[in-house]
Amino acid sequence: MRTSFPKDKIKILLLENIHPIAESRLQAEGFSVQRESAARSEDELVELASEFHVLGIRSKTQITERVVEESKKLLSIGAFCIGTNQIALEAANRRGIPVFNAPYSNTRSVAELVIAEIISLSRQLAHRSQMAHQGVWEKSANGSNEIRGKTLGIVGYGHIGSQVSVLAESMGMKVVFYDITKKLPLGNSVQLESLTELFNIADFVSLHVPETSDTREMIGARELSRMKRGSYLINASRGSVVVIEDLVGHLKEGHLAGAAIDVFPVEPKSNEEKFESQLCGLKNVIITPHIGGSTEEAQESIGTEVSDSITKFINNGSTTGAVGFPNVDLPIQKECHRVLNVHKNVPGVLKEINHIVSEVGANIRAQYLSTDPNIGYLVMDLEKAEASEVSEKIKALSTSIKTRILF
Ligand code: NAI
Repeated sequence: MRTSFPKDKIKILLLENIHPIAESRLQAEGFSVQRESAARSEDELVELASEFHVLGIRSKTQITERVVEESKKLLSIGAFCIGTNQIALEAANRRGIPVFNAPYSNTRSVAELVIAEIISLSRQLAHRSQMAHQGVWEKSANGSNEIRGKTLGIVGYGHIGSQVSVLAESMGMKVVFYDITKKLPLGNSVQLESLTELFNIADFVSLHVPETSDTREMIGARELSRMKRGSYLINASRGSVVVIEDLVGHLKEGHLAGAAIDVFPVEPKSNEEKFESQLCGLKNVIITPHIGGSTEEAQESIGTEVSDSITKFINNGSTTGAVGFPNVDLPIQKECHRVLNVHKNVPGVLKEINHIVSEVGANIRAQYLSTDPNIGYLVMDLEKAEASEVSEKIKALSTSIKTRILF
């Protein structure tokens, strides 16, 4: 498939050391790719967005409203990470620029960390290792258990929670879960009606909920005291979900036998900043610097996923998975030209576009439309003869934001 101008004229800038697989996949598609290790300032980005068609960033680059508004060439933004807070999404939406990220590329990495933590807690691994490093030989079976036959209670049975469920069962654990929506239980796992039921029977409670107003401080003194005496808490979801002070109290008092915490209410912004928590120094408490999703495999998978979304968008117009942008999953175009139009979602737009089509006498092979409150994304597969004229006329409409044609 050809884009409206040669593919090697489509310029893509990848910043912040994005995994090289992204560069190689985009180059294999024929795009011109430049890869850099640093982030760029707002002023630099304003200039770059008038030279490059795609900007690929991670979490340090701020794509502000000004960068988006003043961009002349920007077709799409690739967030080669999970979050998109660093991007002015609403401005990108208004300018018809879809943003792609990779929200589930690190699911498996988090699940594996949780499994490692379940065994580590159960065998007091962190503590025993620390003692041995200090020359203390603490050989004893007291408080060490197999995880086989124990019950894992998963709170939030989404992408990560369900992966943890499968892995835990394969090691002989019983799995119960609680989720606010009805979920298909994988394997022999069982969905419970309430958190209290879960706390009553779980030897390990692992949290996998998103950050919402409902999950903020969802686990405090009341919930912790409902957990079984001698059970363990694992949180690799969001720092705001657990009240750390209450957790510390329940650990010190011995109600909980241990905890593994990967996320904190306040986290250092960089590796140079000091980390402080009331959990530091507590026995059988594993604390990790938000590394649940930090694996080389996850980085590679992010590189693949985001570069493939960008390629699909440039080559055939699909916006599947785009953040804050109407999603359209398009089939491969065959024997036709494809007109892609982002327009303001105001009354009468489609009437005007259909008028152009009938005025030109074009035959529509297929039409796809997805809208949100601000914009509409319309894709039309047209007979080759009339497509260019239709595209030019649609482009000239005052309601049109961005119009492209694929030959
Ligand atoms: P997801 O969206 O696939 O699943 C979340 C599940 O929680 C859904 O099934 C939802 O229905 C359920 N849920 C929402 N509110 C709930 C409530 N009040 N009570 C019970 N269940 C509730 O999310 P995913 O991908 O599984 O991620 C889970 C968490 O893990 C997120 O908070 C995410 O930010 C975090 N995460 C942490 C990483 C790390 O490095 N530690 C890396 C990746 C994700």
